[in-house]
Amino acid sequence: MSAVAVATIEREVLRLRADGLTYQETADRIGRSRGFVYEILLRHGARQHEARIRERAEERRRRQEETLRAIIGETVTADILDFFDSLPDDSLDLIVTSAPYNIGKVYGEAPRADRMRHLHYHGWMMQVISEMARTLKPNAMAFVQLGNTRDDANQTVPLDILFFDDFRGAGLTFQSRVIWTKSHGLQPKRRLAERYEAALVWCKGDSPRFNASAARTPQRHPEKRAYKGPHKGELTCNPLGAWPTDVWPIEQVKANHPERAPGHPAQFPLALAKRAVMLYSMPGDLVCDPFSGTGTTAAACAEAGRAFVGADLFYDDVRRKRLAAVTPDTVTWLPGVSAENLAVWQAEARRRDVPASPISREAELQLLLGALPGTGRRDEAG
Ligand SMILES: C[S@@+](CC[C@H](N)C(=O)[O-])C[C@H]1O[C@@H](n2cnc3c(N)ncnc32)[C@H](O)[C@@H]1O
Repeated sequence: MSAVAVATIEREVLRLRADGLTYQETADRIGRSRGFVYEILLRHGARQHEARIRERAEERRRRQEETLRAIIGETVTADILDFFDSLPDDSLDLIVTSAPYNIGKVYGEAPRADRMRHLHYHGWMMQVISEMARTLKPNAMAFVQLGNTRDDANQTVPLDILFFDDFRGAGLTFQSRVIWTKSHGLQPKRRLAERYEAALVWCKGDSPRFNASAARTPQRHPEKRAYKGPHKGELTCNPLGAWPTDVWPIEQVKANHPERAPGHPAQFPLALAKRAVMLYSMPGDLVCDPFSGTGTTAAACAEAGRAFVGADLFYDDVRRKRLAAVTPDTVTWLPGVSAENLAVWQAEARRRDVPASPISREAELQLLLGALPGTGRRDEAG
C-alpha cells in the first residue's frame, strides 16, 4: 500500500472511532480486521482506554496541585511514599533530607521500623529515590545525607555507595559527595573510629543551581597580591571568601547541644541543612524534607526565606514547637566574609581613593572655582 493510501485509511479509522463506532464497526466499514484497526489506534495513542488514562492523569495532577498548595509551610504526619504520592511531578525546587539508616534506631512509636531486611530497605529506598526524581523540577537539586547501614550478615555498608546507582538510574546527575566531619561518633574495637558522614548532591538535569558564596570560607591570606602580569600589585583573593569545598566540618547535635530536640535519636545540625538550602536554592523557592524528623530543614528554610513542605511518621509536636521559635535570619554575613577580609578590602578601597599623582595648583584652583556660587557649572545646574 502506498504511503498516501496508508495515511488515508489511518485518517478514516481515527474519524470513525471519534464518531463513536466500536472497533468491530470500524473494521467492517473499512473492510479490515479488528487487529488492523487496533494497531492504527495504538500507533496514534487513540485507543479507548488511553483517553480515560489521560483524563485520570489530569485529574490526579489537579488533586496533587491542590494538596501541595494546602500544605506549603507545613510538615505533615504521613508515610513518605503516601506523602510523595500527593505531590505533582516537577514541583520541588530542592530536597534536603537525611534518610533512616536501617540500623535499629527507635523513631517514635515504631521501634522496629528502622530494622527491615536489607533487601526490603534497599527496595523501599529505591522507591523513595525514584519519587524524589519525579517530584523535583527540571534542574532542581537534591542533597541527601547518608551514613552507614548494616546488612543481614551485620556487615557495614556505606549508604552513599549502596544508593549511588539508584540515584543515577532515577535520571539524576551526580554533583558532589559532601563529607560532613564531626568530632564524636562510633569507636569500634578493630577498625577506625567513624568521624564523618556523607551526603550525595544530585541535579535533575545538567544545569545545577549553585550559589557558591553561600558556603565560601574566609580567605587564609586575604592580603595576597598578584606579583606579575597586568594586575601586578592588586589583591587576588575574592573578598567573599575562598571557593567552597566538599568537606564540611560541623559539630553534630549531641545530648547537651542547644539545638537538641527531645526524643529524636538522629537529628542533624541546623548549620548543615542551612548550608545546603542556601547553596542549592533561592529565596522563595520550595524546599522539601520528606524525612523531616525534628524539623531541622524546615527551620533552616524559615531562617533563609524559603518555602517548605515535608513529612515524617512522628515528631509533629516537636516540629511545631521548634518552628514557632524560628525567626528569619537577616543579620548573619555570608560565611566567607570575615572581619579580616573586610579590613583588607576597606584599606584597599581607601588606598584607591587617594589620587595617584599630586594635583597641580592650577587644576586645584579650577576645582575650587567650580564649587563657588556664581563661578561655575555647578551653580548653573542649581
Ligand atoms: C535520620 S532521621 C531525620 C532527622 C532530621 N533530619 C532531623 O534533623 O531531625 C529520619 C526520619 O525518618 C522518619 N521516618 C522513618 N520511616 C519513615 C516513613 N516510612 N515515612 C516517613 N518518615 C519516616 C523517622 O521518624 C525519622 O524522623
